[in-house]
Amino acid sequence: MNAIEVRDLRKEFKEITALDDVTLRIKEGEVFGLLGPNGAGKTTLIRVLVGLIKASSGEAKVFNLDVNENIMEIRKRVSLLPQDCQTYEKLTAFENIFYYGQMHGTLSDEDLRKRTNDLIDLIGLRGRENDLTKHFSGGMKRKVLVARAVVMDPDLIFLDEPTTGIDVLGARTVRKLIKELAGMKKTIILTTHDLNEVAELCDRVGILVSGELVAIGTPKELEEKFKQANLEDVFVALSTGEEG
Ligand SMILES: Nc1ncnc2c1ncn2[C@@H]1O[C@H](COP(=O)(O)OP(=O)(O)OP(=O)(O)O)[C@@H](O)[C@H]1O
Ligand SMILES: [Mg+2]
Repeated sequence: MNAIEVRDLRKEFKEITALDDVTLRIKEGEVFGLLGPNGAGKTTLIRVLVGLIKASSGEAKVFNLDVNENIMEIRKRVSLLPQDCQTYEKLTAFENIFYYGQMHGTLSDEDLRKRTNDLIDLIGLRGRENDLTKHFSGGMKRKVLVARAVVMDPDLIFLDEPTTGIDVLGARTVRKLIKELAGMKKTIILTTHDLNEVAELCDRVGILVSGELVAIGTPKELEEKFKQANLEDVFVALSTGEEG
């Protein structure tokens, strides 16, 4: 089954075309890298798919449900790590993760408590779990937000630049978590500017440039199709028109 099916999706903000008739399908269980330069439309596409904004035209389905008609149903199975998002500063790390899961309402408190504790160990914040996140560093907050995004055991996870601002070890931990989730057949949509991360994690990638999906395929397919040595050269060629 398709986790995501998008057809001729268009989003205009006044004179800016953020999504220019995007058509794409992502299968269940895929780790899909959504790439593109700043302002290409990646976050906009994600926001349409989780129902935070409405497209100007076109069709978007998640697990075969239309985002305009069934968003509450979709949200039971989907979670998002937003690109720019803060923790609740007056809550501890544990509370940030646990209450977010509780708000979602799909797991028992007992399961949530266990998952929250497992995630705190995983992101390396054991010992700081009862501190207010107000006093956390930027990367520590980002780790809490990553944990929060997966605590309710979603089937489809949008991670909008999960490793941005996180140190080398933390980023490695997040990548490990993404691999574990992939092993559990979760569908993951990942945006990142780190192409090594893409090579390590993604089954397929889609490259957006000025709202247009200019390429889609496995990294290897794209290197062959655009006659480039690596994904970075493909990216540069497509986003600037330069030949590598
Ligand atoms: N709410 C909004 N109002 C007006 N314009 C917007 C809005 N949201 C996005 N845009 C515009 O849409 C375009 C795409 O933005 P988007 O945030 O989707 O890019 P992105 O690919 O996520 O970039 P980045 O890599 O910098 O995160 C940009 O030109 C942006 O200015
Ligand atoms: Mg973005």
